[in-house]
Amino acid sequence: MILLESKKFSNLEEIYKIVKQIDFDFIKPEQSFAIRALRVGEHDFTSIDIGRVAGQAVIDSYKESKGIRLKVNLDEPDVIIRTDVIHNELYVGIDTTGDDALHKRWYRVYNHPAPLNSAIASCMIRLANWNKNKSLFDPMCGGGTIPIEAALKERNIPIGKNREFAYFKLYGKILPYIEENREFMEIYGMDKFKKHVNGAIRNAESAGVKDTINFFQGDATLKKLEADIIITNPPYGLRIGSKRILKDLYSKFVENLFADKIVVITAEYKIFESFLENHYYDYYKIPVKYGNLDARIFVVGKLK
Ligand SMILES: C[S@@+](CC[C@H](N)C(=O)[O-])C[C@H]1O[C@@H](n2cnc3c(N)ncnc32)[C@H](O)[C@@H]1O
Repeated sequence: MILLESKKFSNLEEIYKIVKQIDFDFIKPEQSFAIRALRVGEHDFTSIDIGRVAGQAVIDSYKESKGIRLKVNLDEPDVIIRTDVIHNELYVGIDTTGDDALHKRWYRVYNHPAPLNSAIASCMIRLANWNKNKSLFDPMCGGGTIPIEAALKERNIPIGKNREFAYFKLYGKILPYIEENREFMEIYGMDKFKKHVNGAIRNAESAGVKDTINFFQGDATLKKLEADIIITNPPYGLRIGSKRILKDLYSKFVENLFADKIVVITAEYKIFESFLENHYYDYYKIPVKYGNLDARIFVVGKLK
């Protein structure tokens, strides 16, 4: 977002005044616009009210300076103006991304039934302090989100490649030139099911990183899982059904882990933690919303 204004306010009339004094001349007369409003805190109005008032203010401001009434298009606007209210502060800005969220990547050609949000996968890679000089292993890789995000990061392939950004309509399709890194990296992805392994390979191919990742079939409960860094997203209860099977899976999987750093996201954090306590030390956990689930990311240090 390109911030145009941030100010304290106390009611809807003040929101109108703040938005109206902004210069919207960067919008071309033939372009349409929409307001997208977000509201955090207790107010006697809704985000729809903010949208209505701010929309009118943009129209009035433009009409005053250019003598033209801007068109509103709520579904496919050329320009999106964000008016976010956080308690008693109003933030007005140009949305440079657009309505398609950044976590929606272009490379997903195989749809795993329980894919990890790619932005969370990317954060987990950062939490692990992984870089191309360390080996990385996801032993339950599903559609391959974690290995693919890692490969994209260290190969310098922008995650916004091949997508439209809202700012193109205002400033043109200006994209920075980034030199791709083709160094050798050790990135591995494993899944129990051939179908997912094949799907992960297809996703990696579509992401342009197939030659950087080694995907193979295997069972995380049956073999030692070794790498400098292990990052994974094991199955959770909703899909497995039985707590007994889940406990068995988690206990064996945790016993097999051998790495300098392990980062795991799971909604079954109590079960995972109960096994972790006997095995590793030096860990912390971060609460995250994973779909509708209350999940934790564990960042685990060295072996006892
Ligand atoms: C939550 S999904 C992972 C999703 C993945 N992160 C993605 O973005 O597509 C969990 C994966 O673990 C796999 N799995 C379950 N039990 C396993 C085991 N014993 N060994 C290896 N993989 C297993 C499942 O097949 C499933 O693909």
